[in-house]
Amino acid sequence: MRRRERSEMVKMTLLMMVVMMSSMLMTMVDSSRTVQRARDDSEILRRHLLANGLGVTPPMGWNSWNHFNCNINEKVIKETADALVTTGLSKLGYNYVNIDDCWAELARDKKGKLVPKKSTFPSGIKALADYVHSKGLKLGIYSDAGYLTCSKTMPGSLGYEEKDAKTFAEWGIDYLKYDNCNHDGSRPTVRYPVMTRALMKSGRPIFHSLCEWGDMHPALWGAPIGNSWRTTNDISDNWSSMISIADMNEIYAEHARPGGWNDPDMLEVGNGGMTKDEYIVHFSIWAISKAPLLLGCDIRNMNKETMEIVANKEVIAINQDPHGVQAKKARMEGDIQVWAGPLSGYRVALLLLNRGPKRSDIAAFWDDIEIPANSIVEARDLWEHKTLKQKFVGKLTATVDSHACKLYILKPVA
Ligand SMILES: *[C@@H]1O[C@H](CO)[C@@H](O)[C@H](O)[C@H]1NC(C)=O
Repeated sequence: MRRRERSEMVKMTLLMMVVMMSSMLMTMVDSSRTVQRARDDSEILRRHLLANGLGVTPPMGWNSWNHFNCNINEKVIKETADALVTTGLSKLGYNYVNIDDCWAELARDKKGKLVPKKSTFPSGIKALADYVHSKGLKLGIYSDAGYLTCSKTMPGSLGYEEKDAKTFAEWGIDYLKYDNCNHDGSRPTVRYPVMTRALMKSGRPIFHSLCEWGDMHPALWGAPIGNSWRTTNDISDNWSSMISIADMNEIYAEHARPGGWNDPDMLEVGNGGMTKDEYIVHFSIWAISKAPLLLGCDIRNMNKETMEIVANKEVIAINQDPHGVQAKKARMEGDIQVWAGPLSGYRVALLLLNRGPKRSDIAAFWDDIEIPANSIVEARDLWEHKTLKQKFVGKLTATVDSHACKLYILKPVA
């Protein structure tokens, strides 16, 4: 290469590097601005508005959206409540029966009150709440911090927060999912606390689920105003959607705590879009992430496989552990990941996750998962339902199939 050519090339390379670095800098400034804004908001909201005593452990139950979308009616809701009891799921903790979008008429009544949709909820929501309560369950409902809900078939609560919170309390509502569609362009940190105050004034403890989709880092400002906050956009019933949402939610692990949880959206287990192993991964990650366990399938028609997954008592116990600490990624090597989180009683929840196309060996080292170096550890395999005979020192290794996981509780015994 001649000298002139070479110096031209050096110049070009330098120029490209400058362009790339300045664009990287701009991106960093941009995202740090969003983070700074979220921090400012959390200062404003430092005083806890929400002292309802709810969500000491992540909520469990069912929500209508993932399976039924807008095709809901009081018969489906009642039959679901019945099925939660007859299947034994309610005894395992699944006690919220949550109605999502599309339950109300488009027009409010003369006094500005929300009106249950006459064609689908002819008996009204109060009667439904009474029915659900008679089964020992709780009723959840849905509204939106905007003028219309996302389906645009019913009004949102923006400007009607006190009236709607009072109506929900009168009806006997126990849980509100508060969505983020069709608003006035103001920030969620302006609109959401208004509903929090209204719920607190309503005279009934109502779980407040912020469904802001993670747009403005709600994990940084959600705790004073919500019992849970969505950290991501909507889940779809497929592997890539589920696993990408799990990743996004993991970033905020430090912010989960009793009374306020990161919410990576409702479960798709049983809806048919993933393999059994993939659904086991889905349920395992949601459990160790201390996510709300809100079933999203048709409870009236679950098959044995679905039931085996969602009724795994030991996995549910991780989710409901009083310690309330969300698990995190401890080691990532390509498609191989180790997730872990502390549990009560000096135990550790350990997930070995194979996201790749081939069966692989995965090792978890005590060093990575915060177990003291010399500990001898007993391992319980929660999907095999057995305590392994071998005791482990320094690490645990297992072979994991493609798009599958192993979930253990590790207990130091010496
Ligand atoms: C998974 O769901 C997302 C979101 O709906 C969709 O864009 C994507 O195409 C789906 N992927 C597969 C493999 O079906």
